[in-house]
Amino acid sequence: MSNIFERTLVILKPDALQRNLLGDIIARFEKKGLKIVAMKMMALDDVILTEHYIHHKDKPFFTKLKDFMKQSPCVVLCLEGLESVKVVRDLCGPTLGRVAPPGTIRGDFSMSIQANIIHSSDSLETAKQEVKRFFKSDELYEYKKMDTDIVYIEEERK
Ligand code: CMP
Repeated sequence: MSNIFERTLVILKPDALQRNLLGDIIARFEKKGLKIVAMKMMALDDVILTEHYIHHKDKPFFTKLKDFMKQSPCVVLCLEGLESVKVVRDLCGPTLGRVAPPGTIRGDFSMSIQANIIHSSDSLETAKQEVKRFFKSDELYEYKKMDTDIVYIEEERK
């Protein structure tokens, strides 16, 4: 059994904030058993958005995507858990909201390709870069989460 406690990055996008979904979404992560190791509200500027979405720089939607992400502040989180990169991706669902399965965050709360509520890291390598991009090391909290012993069996824990 692999005991890989990973950290992954989540961005709750302006549509999540405007539609009053922040609490519902964060509650899903908490109820799943993920540990919040960092969380803050941020107004994302062009510099950080260009870096974050650099792999889309030649796509026709690049500028509009950045404008959308600048419409209001976002909430960024770093979540920790066993294989959390995949766990969080699965909770979010596929990019296109209207085809994302019911039960996923995008499937339950969105209809759009761009206004799709949430971003999460797509691999462990990306997650490491993204966590560093959005959080300074002293914003990432090391603490004992009291429910770890019931969320995981002994063999799964760190
Ligand atoms: P995200 O997971 O943040 O990664 C890239 C984002 O680009 C994606 O979610 C969508 O918000 C957006 N996106 C992807 N494809 C399109 C598209 N065809 N048109 C507009 N926005 C898109």
